[in-house]
Amino acid sequence: MSALLDVADLQVTLLGARGPLTVVRGVSLFLEPASTLALVGESGSGKSMTALACLGLTPRARVEGRVLIDGMDVLADGGRGATHIRGSRAGMVFQDPQSALHPATRVGAAVAAVVRHHRRCTRKEAEQRSLELFAEVGLDDAPRRARAFPHELSGGLRQRVAIALALAADPKLLIADEPTTALDVTVQAKVLALLRELCRTRGLGLLLISHDLGVVAAAADRVAVMYAGRVVEEGPVEAVLQSPRHPYTRALRTAVPRVTAPPRTAPGCIPGQPPLAGALPPGCPFHPRCPRAIDTCSRAEPVLSECSRGWSAACPVTERDT
Ligand SMILES: Nc1ncnc2c1ncn2[C@@H]1O[C@H](COP(=O)(O)OP(=O)(O)OP(=O)(O)O)[C@@H](O)[C@H]1O
Ligand SMILES: [Mg+2]
Repeated sequence: MSALLDVADLQVTLLGARGPLTVVRGVSLFLEPASTLALVGESGSGKSMTALACLGLTPRARVEGRVLIDGMDVLADGGRGATHIRGSRAGMVFQDPQSALHPATRVGAAVAAVVRHHRRCTRKEAEQRSLELFAEVGLDDAPRRARAFPHELSGGLRQRVAIALALAADPKLLIADEPTTALDVTVQAKVLALLRELCRTRGLGLLLISHDLGVVAAAADRVAVMYAGRVVEEGPVEAVLQSPRHPYTRALRTAVPRVTAPPRTAPGCIPGQPPLAGALPPGCPFHPRCPRAIDTCSRAEPVLSECSRGWSAACPVTERDT
């Protein structure tokens, strides 16, 4: 099947005052239409930078590699290809819905403006379309909600509006960066259910960034695990979460606090700190924290290689075991 999102050897180098810093190091991703790929990993592993680079949203950065969205080259023409692709082919939902909404614009007008930007229609038709979108994302009493300013809505409702905004140009791909993290637990579940429903009804592809493996297990078909700017394991979500091949994925899974844990059991955490971009240890960046590290791990950085059909990991120890 042809890919909705096809990322090959993506490299993102931030060009800051302290010199270049490569924060995404050769990431390849593949998302089929109407499916969900989750991107997981600890803070600072490069998930957001990967997502932003896919939409040409990384100013003051050098982006190398190839990003195709629905066959269109995002990085072509010095990134100018991205302007057209954003909205029309791909929409983005952020952790903080406030960041997508202007505080002094009524939410209905904000969505109608995006509709008008992307399709030829009258103001009235755009308003009508925005009400349909609000109904689709589960906002009750859409006409009343449309007149609200962002601050008059709860976090969950604001995130629904932000999703409507991302859908306003009928994209085929949605990139959602921690879309439920800022919400309380019951609202989280509802917004996640909405995203899944939209994937089903609209046939949307979803790149879902999350640090919550529960969310990933519930929503994704495939998962890519990132560590220090690289994908270290990628495969079908059930298989990867049930019997991870990479020691880092295994550690991430153990680090999830469980409700069923016996009392006084501290929630797990991965010993040590993730390395800072620009100060990576030699060899595998995870080896100083890895319980299974062997001599070679400190010498050469392992590359992703297939351990089962459609399932890859970047770990020589795991490969030897299987
Ligand atoms: N504006 C910035 N200036 C300098 N470094 C940055 C900037 N934004 C991100 N970085 C660095 O880029 C790397 C990747 O960051 P990124 O935001 O992609 O991580 P992440 O996986 O999304 O983390 P989180 O789970 O905390 O959102 C990190 O090392 C981070 O410190
Ligand atoms: Mg992030």
